[in-house]
Amino acid sequence: MLIKRPNDLHPSEITDEKIYRNRREFMKAMSAVAAASFFPSALMASKGPFDTDEPPTTEKDATTYNNYYEFGNKKDQPAKNVGRFVTKPWSIAVEGMVRKPATFALEDLLKGLKPEDRIYRFRCVEGWSMVLPWTGVPLAEIVKKLQPLPSAKFIEFTTVLRPDQMTGLDDNDHLEWPYKEGLRLDEANNPLALLATGIYGKPLPGQNGAPVRLVVPWKYGFKNVKSIVKIRFTDQMPATTWAVKRPTEYGFYANVNPEVDHPRWSQAKERRIGVDLVKNRKTLMFNGYADRVASMYSGMDLRKNF
Ligand code: MTE
Repeated sequence: MLIKRPNDLHPSEITDEKIYRNRREFMKAMSAVAAASFFPSALMASKGPFDTDEPPTTEKDATTYNNYYEFGNKKDQPAKNVGRFVTKPWSIAVEGMVRKPATFALEDLLKGLKPEDRIYRFRCVEGWSMVLPWTGVPLAEIVKKLQPLPSAKFIEFTTVLRPDQMTGLDDNDHLEWPYKEGLRLDEANNPLALLATGIYGKPLPGQNGAPVRLVVPWKYGFKNVKSIVKIRFTDQMPATTWAVKRPTEYGFYANVNPEVDHPRWSQAKERRIGVDLVKNRKTLMFNGYADRVASMYSGMDLRKNF
């Protein structure tokens, strides 16, 4: 018997130490239980229509267990290696099929838009998951502001590339830099898609994609491109980093789908960081957001369009 959601814990289970592998895991699990009891009042005082009820992952886990390969391959490296990463001032180039291609200071791009708090599930293609409290603006609002041409069908995002500040690039020369991701325009306009500038009520730290990143909670984590410096509108499906690197393993859509396995592992279950000891939690279709996103894919073969 392993811990699942802190919410699901019966008091007798907490005292049954046989369920814990060792003292460290026990302490970690207990802090997750503590988080469950204080987070809802602190962070979920006014639960929004998009918020999950699940207790957020601890800030420590979310900011020290990261994938940001530009800063290293191991989960703890981005937090350790972002020290030289300069994220202010920041500008974003807007290119391609758009009424007025231009470069915007980040503040100007966000001007007039009201930041929203959203507590979303987050599922990495590797099989782990978190619950994260983001602050950001709906991507649809940015798209509206930028006025894509009717011919635009996709949107491509590019991460900053700064070899002098990024210590992981050499270890990852098998990947094509800069990191790129993309969405179909209707996906970008889905109300769940967020351009996040904050997490846990603070500005995004470097390792989480400062100062601005994409958050699309119904897709695998690798779609959530960090530290965006370019937005390009196009009529062609963008060539995205992981889909280019391993097209048989990572697709453009990358919708969370427990029924479509990665060629090297099952996607049926996941491990919630800080809560589960192993992958024993059922993964939900579209990461639990099917009611908001499934219609965008009706008629599509999700095994082919993985
Ligand atoms: N963006 C860039 N530029 N570089 C990366 O390596 N990793 C992706 C995504 N965005 C990545 C990236 C992957 S694989 C995941 S799971 C998420 O970021 C992790 O986000 P987090 O570290 O905030 O949890």
